[in-house]
Amino acid sequence: MTDQTLSVLGVAGSLRKASYNRSLLHAARDLAPPGMSLRAFELDAIPLYNADVEEAGEPGPVAAFKQAVREADALLVATPEYNYGVPGVLKNAIDWASRPPGRSPLAGKPAAILGASMGQGGTIRAQLQLRQAFLFTEVYALLKPEVAIPRCREKFDAEGRLTDEATRGHVRKLLEALRDWTLRLQGRPR
Ligand code: FNR
Repeated sequence: MTDQTLSVLGVAGSLRKASYNRSLLHAARDLAPPGMSLRAFELDAIPLYNADVEEAGEPGPVAAFKQAVREADALLVATPEYNYGVPGVLKNAIDWASRPPGRSPLAGKPAAILGASMGQGGTIRAQLQLRQAFLFTEVYALLKPEVAIPRCREKFDAEGRLTDEATRGHVRKLLEALRDWTLRLQGRPR
């Protein structure tokens, strides 16, 4: 039998404890297809990007993040939407990981994007902006399905569990598509 084990690194673009987007990563762990494992990386220790700091030596949390990206077969990025865009916390982590040019662990990495927000748009504008950053960083972001979760407060329970069945189905389909996309890019048979 072909080994189709895939390790996915989950990243949520929110630092708050009760983040819906972090909860999405927890839900994804349960909804992942057989053979896919998901580990979440917390961005809270990553400092603001500063070329002087980088030149003096990569901070530990940045090195850990880049190593986690390097080791993962694929990324699952759950982004909130702040003022129609990607939260600075997430963009900052991408900026660090994009360095140095030519040796970024992001280059060639398959990824899937999803997001939950309070508004009607469900992060669709933030997702578009994230895709833009993924162009230059050469992240191969899956195109479809799009999973943008509007009015997210209604889709989770008080403990942060994703309870909306339709949304759970969308996340499951996204992960299946990410598996197929990753195996295809790795040249592994499905
Ligand atoms: C928001 N929020 C928000 N929601 C949205 O649908 N579109 C938007 O443009 C914004 N803008 C925005 C800006 C700022 C600074 C904050 C703090 C919030 C609301 C946002 O969707 C909500 O806070 C989510 O709960 C954030 O995601 P986490 O932290 O739950 O993962």
